[in-house]
Amino acid sequence: MPKVLISDKLSAAAIEIFRSRGIETDVKTGLSPAELRAIIGDYDGLAIRSATKVTKELLEAAPNLKVVGRAGIGVDNVDIKAATSHGVVVMNTPFGNAITTAEHAIAMMFALARQLPEASASTRAGKWEKNRFMGVELTAKTLGIIGCGNIGSIVADRAVGLKMKVLAYDPFLSEKRAVELGVEKAELPELFARADFITLHTPLVEGTRNIINAAAIATMKPGVRIINCARGGLVDEAALLEGLQSGKVAGAALDVFEVEPATENPLFALENVVCTPHLGAATAEAQENVALQVAEQMSDYLLTGA
Ligand code: MLT
Repeated sequence: MPKVLISDKLSAAAIEIFRSRGIETDVKTGLSPAELRAIIGDYDGLAIRSATKVTKELLEAAPNLKVVGRAGIGVDNVDIKAATSHGVVVMNTPFGNAITTAEHAIAMMFALARQLPEASASTRAGKWEKNRFMGVELTAKTLGIIGCGNIGSIVADRAVGLKMKVLAYDPFLSEKRAVELGVEKAELPELFARADFITLHTPLVEGTRNIINAAAIATMKPGVRIINCARGGLVDEAALLEGLQSGKVAGAALDVFEVEPATENPLFALENVVCTPHLGAATAEAQENVALQVAEQMSDYLLTGA
């Protein structure tokens, strides 16, 4: 009987699936890398979220490991090259949290447009600063979406529903799909020049690192607002800070950071910055979906090799 270790906090649905498929399942979260290395040799499968780092060293200590399942989209915490060289299959769940992450990006866009966090803090403090918080409407504004895949396309759909004009930059987006989504395909320079809001929905790879940098910001519309619920590292934080301080960028909403956990960051000092602690996938529905999906996929692979 195959054995699976769940080493990050996953919905209980995953354990039920593994066990119902006859897979022995242990849940051990919060292990140090050394503690994990000491026990990984017993397991055929490892189910993770983002906390466990699947390194070369861990894979070297895992002779029986056949599959790593990431309940979520990004596999940045897995050394894919090392996994491949050890014959370990790496799976993710590209669809399970797409709606939730898209909704977070839309929520961040509203929060920025109406300064909701600052207004909430001020009201709670008893200030009633009715004249301090002048917002902007989203209707008829242009949203530039960088990356129009699983998540970006849902953001596009919601933004079209909000009566925004949507530009999408994505080398994999066909004209036909763009028409279906009601978006206009654009190259980056055009998107930067025309967008009132820019939201990122692309993985972090060498070609996308610092895709929003000082040179890009210089070509944006004055008063642009930037939303990143994808990956830290897509936005050059020093350049963003400068853009915000100069007023060129009117606001930024960030769910992800170059260094996470982000417990201190110069951007936190600015009142036109809205921050959340990598909550893009944090809804009950999404966590249930990704846990179910990863457990089904891993079980299929361990039991049938499919
Ligand atoms: C993902 O890659 O699925 C999201 O960033 C959420 C997460 O890391 O938990």
